[in-house]
Amino acid sequence: MIKDISPSSSLKGTLSLPPDKSISQRAAIFSLLYDGVSEVGNYSPAQDPQSTLSCIEQLGAEVLPSDGKLIIKGKGRARIGTPKKDLDCGNSGTAMRLLSGVLAGSGISAKLIGDPSLSKRDMTRVIDPLEQMGAHILARNSTFAPLFINRNEPLKPLKFELPIPSAQLKSCVLLAGLFGEDITQVIEVLPSRDHTERLLNLDQKLVQGRKIISASIEDEIPHQSYTIPGDFSAAAFWLVAGAIQKDAELLIENVGLNPTRNALLDILDDMGADITIENERMEGAEPVGDIIVKGSDLKAIELDPKIIPNCIDELPVLAVAMLFAEGTSVISGAEELRHKETDRIMAMSKMLKAVGADFEEQEDGLIIHGDPEFTFKSAEFESFHDHRIAMAAAVLSLKGGADSKIKDAECAAVSYPDFWKDMRKLTK
Ligand code: S3P
Repeated sequence: MIKDISPSSSLKGTLSLPPDKSISQRAAIFSLLYDGVSEVGNYSPAQDPQSTLSCIEQLGAEVLPSDGKLIIKGKGRARIGTPKKDLDCGNSGTAMRLLSGVLAGSGISAKLIGDPSLSKRDMTRVIDPLEQMGAHILARNSTFAPLFINRNEPLKPLKFELPIPSAQLKSCVLLAGLFGEDITQVIEVLPSRDHTERLLNLDQKLVQGRKIISASIEDEIPHQSYTIPGDFSAAAFWLVAGAIQKDAELLIENVGLNPTRNALLDILDDMGADITIENERMEGAEPVGDIIVKGSDLKAIELDPKIIPNCIDELPVLAVAMLFAEGTSVISGAEELRHKETDRIMAMSKMLKAVGADFEEQEDGLIIHGDPEFTFKSAEFESFHDHRIAMAAAVLSLKGGADSKIKDAECAAVSYPDFWKDMRKLTK
C-alpha cells in the first residue's frame, strides 16, 4: 500500500497510543509461566504482540478476552506443552528471542519461525548462550530462523556478561535461567530496557557500576495483572512531529515513562523542545504519565553513545528532528541499528537522501547537518517493510511542500495499527 501524506504545519489534538509492544509481549509470555490467572488490561492489538499471543496459546496458555482485558490462564513452568505447529513469531525479534529462552529452559522441543525480515536477523546472539546452558539449536546456516530448539541434557546455569546492550538477549538468558536449579546471572554493562526484571521482580544488584540480575527455579513468577501503558516508542513519532512544527500542541495520554526507554525526552529537551509531563503515576511496575509537546526551535545535539540502548527504537524519527535542528547532530555507537527489522542506518540514509538532506552515513550512525529552514518539495520514501521507518518518513512528509508517498505503509501495523488514522486526525 502506498500512502500519500499531505504537508501540514498545524498539528493539534489529544492522542491515546497503542499499548506498549515490549510490555505486551512480556505480559503474554510471563502469564504463560505463571501458574494461575492473569488479567492483562490494554493488551496491544498490533501484529507483533498478537504473534506472541498465539505462540503462548500453542504452548498451553488459555487466552480469553473479557471486558477489554485478556484473561490468561497460565501453565506454570512445569506444565508448558509441546506445540502442535511451528511457533510463528511473524516480524517480532522479541517474540523469537524471548521464546527461545523459554523453550531452552523448559526443555520443550519446538520450532520457531518468522517472516522474511525476521528470518534474515542474526540469532547467534541467543543461540550461543542457550547452547552453553545445554540446549541444542538447529538454525539455518547456524545463524538464522527457523530455529529448532530442544535439550537432551540437564539445564546448566550461566554467568553471562552481555556482549551487546540488548534487552532481548538479557531476557532470553534470564527466562532460560528461571527453569534452572542453580542461579543464572546476567551482567549488564550498559543499561537496556528493564521490563523483564521489573515485571518478574528478579533479584538485581549493582556491583562496580554493573547490574547483576539473577534467575532460577526458586524465583516465584508474579501474576501479570496490570494495565499496559501506551507505547513510548509510538509517542516518539508525535513528540518529534510536534517539536518540528510551527503550530503544534499535542497531548499524549497514558504514556509509559520507563527511564530505560525514554532517553528521547532528555535528548529533545537538550535540543530545546517544549515538552512537559503531567500526571505521573505508577501502573503496576511501570511509570506512566501524560506528555504535552508544542512546536519550538531546535538546536543540534551529539548523542552520548552510552544512551543509545535507551533510545534505540526512537533513532529513525530522531534523525528527522535533527534535520530541522540548527547545527550538526551526531548519532554514534548505534551499530545495533543495522540488525533491526531492516538495516536502519541504511534506511535512515535513504530517507534523508530522498529529501536532499546534508548528512553523512557512518558505520555506527549518522552525522546530520540540520537547518530549521530546511525545505523539500515532495518525496517518495521506501519503508523497507519496517514499521518505524515508514512512520518516521510520514513525520518527515508533514514538512514537505507537496504530497509525499510512503511505500509499503501497511507495515506500521506491526506496532501501531492506527498510526495513519491518528495522523489524519491531528493534521486535519
Ligand atoms: C526490545 C528490545 C530492543 C528493541 C526492540 C524491542 C524488547 O531490541 O529494539 O524493538 O522488547 O526487548 P534489542 O534487545 O535487540 O536491542
